Amino acid sequence: MEPRHILSAKDFDLKLLDRLFRAANRFKNENPSKLLAGTFTLELFWEPSTRTQVSFARAVSLLGGDYFNLSRENSSLTKGETFSDTIRILSNDADAIIIRHPARGIVAKVTKYASVPLINAGDGTNEHPTQALLDIYTMQMKLGSLDGLTIALVGDLRNGRTIHSLVYLLSLYSNVTILCVSPPKLGLPEDVETYVDERGRTAIGATTLNTALRTADVVYITRLQKERLPEGYTAEDYPILTPELLSESKRHDRPLIMHPLPRVDEISADVDDDDLRAIYFQQAANGVPVRMAVLAYIFRKI
Ligand code: CP
Repeated sequence: MEPRHILSAKDFDLKLLDRLFRAANRFKNENPSKLLAGTFTLELFWEPSTRTQVSFARAVSLLGGDYFNLSRENSSLTKGETFSDTIRILSNDADAIIIRHPARGIVAKVTKYASVPLINAGDGTNEHPTQALLDIYTMQMKLGSLDGLTIALVGDLRNGRTIHSLVYLLSLYSNVTILCVSPPKLGLPEDVETYVDERGRTAIGATTLNTALRTADVVYITRLQKERLPEGYTAEDYPILTPELLSESKRHDRPLIMHPLPRVDEISADVDDDDLRAIYFQQAANGVPVRMAVLAYIFRKI
């Protein structure tokens, strides 16, 4: 049987999202503590992570499985072993491998060496599909159907992998409008835009943060991906959300403000007090049930 890898948000359809989100809802209310009993999951987080790494570990643990995090520094990569050999060897010991890595596309590339499911937990500037799942889950939880919504994407849309995966999932819904707010040279990559255009359901346009706050249902803000920019690059006019700016929106309960986190300066801490709209910490908390659902899916338990 072919392993169920999680590589790209492009691989999902609405039926699978529904299946995962139903499971996530169930895991919020139940404690299925034996579902992954006897399984061993490896985490290879070869780029820093707070949320994804810990929420996957927590998800495995709540489902009754075991896990281990093999750091880059402690792996035989430091002796010159290739990543493909690493995956080939670890496939013998693990039942699933969760990978964060700086190289674009590397998780898909090493599937041919893997006899167990691989989960892409962020591959360079490419994608972060499980983040997009929890983003869509959160939007659905707060707004019901996503059809017909306007979602503004703000910040470094070129290098932000959560953005790319989110755009792919948004393109599954009908009549979604995506508004892009980004500094020069940090707009959505052409291939991401082309993918959405070819699906023909989603309109994409550019706007300002002020307009987005007045017209969008959700404003999804991201940090500048400093670690992925050429040395010496400074992004001028990087959009920053303040309570004053948010007060210009038309409704007291819209737009919802989301962020994959970590936040740096792009959302002022005062915005956190806006209980109805600042939902980024609730969004992060959905990481555990959604990742429990992802694990249950790859282990063929749902
Ligand atoms: N959102 C996200 O991927 O956060 P971490 O980098 O902390 O995992």
